[in-house]
Amino acid sequence: MNEIVEIFPYSSRTMSVKIRNGIVARRARPGNFVIVRFSEHGPRLPFSIVDTYPEREIVEIILHRAEGLDEIQKLLRPGNELPDLLGPLGKAPVIDKDLKVLCCGDGAGFVPLLPIIKALHENGCTVISVMSEKSDKTTCLSDEIENYSDKVILASDQNLNQVLKDTIAEKGIEKIWMAGPSDMMKEIAEIAKAKKIPADCVLNMVMIDGIGLCGTCRVIVGGERKQTCTDGPVFDAHLVDFDQLSNRQRLFE
Ligand SMILES: Cc1cc2nc3c(=O)[nH]c(=O)nc-3n(C[C@H](O)[C@H](O)[C@H](O)COP(=O)(O)OP(=O)(O)OC[C@H]3O[C@@H](n4cnc5c(N)ncnc54)[C@H](O)[C@@H]3O)c2cc1C
Ligand code: FES
Repeated sequence: MNEIVEIFPYSSRTMSVKIRNGIVARRARPGNFVIVRFSEHGPRLPFSIVDTYPEREIVEIILHRAEGLDEIQKLLRPGNELPDLLGPLGKAPVIDKDLKVLCCGDGAGFVPLLPIIKALHENGCTVISVMSEKSDKTTCLSDEIENYSDKVILASDQNLNQVLKDTIAEKGIEKIWMAGPSDMMKEIAEIAKAKKIPADCVLNMVMIDGIGLCGTCRVIVGGERKQTCTDGPVFDAHLVDFDQLSNRQRLFE
């Protein structure tokens, strides 16, 4: 159980890890995540389930480290067993059908959108993906994103808002999905609100237990307290209090 089956390095910062766990592979739905411990005394960290291969009992996650993967690569070798893998966790969101959808994320932020993009594509949606960085932080994932997108647009942090506004106007976008830093999501949610377009966001909060008991991942959505791990991680972006979320994230920096 939890044997590392395959490692694929996309870049010096990003790699895919395939892990054997039949229960998670069979039960996971797009939007679910796992909590993983890579070493006996290491932290327990949440990772989106990017793909599953139930017939081979395999779960795939993608790790992205802004500082690079050197440390983690020492721990991860095919054939090794992970001390812990808990999942599938979180509430699987409703995946839209037959809509024109815009998916927007930054570098690592795009990883949680990959399973969503695939599911939207399989549900007959037209998917337009906007990646908000041009560095190797994201371009290493562009093949994966292109596989399930009808169009991929690269934007920079500076012109992201304009690119989004133009794309929404030109393409008749009916729904927006987003993931990434909270200030970026707040801006996208404001653009979506002004255009009266429904929008969902994937929140990245610090988590401890991942099952709703510790309260670490608490956020305010529609004026109510929600737990990102059990009520999310996907929420209606029009209802999320992004200022409270940023303040809370700063507590753990
Ligand atoms: C629902 C969800 C899905 C995610 N999916 C992915 C994914 O697919 N790929 C990916 O690369 N990252 C994902 N993340 C982020 C990931 O869990 C970690 O935040 C990130 O990998 C930590 O990177 P780091 O070790 O470089 O730590 P830094 O960001 O430098 O943080 C330093 C330390 O703080 C602690 N810490 C940081 N973030 C968290 C956290 N969210 N929960 C608990 N402790 C934390 C850890 O001890 C970490 O080593 C996801 C987060 C959430 C909540
Ligand atoms: S991680 Fe503890 S309540 Fe969500």
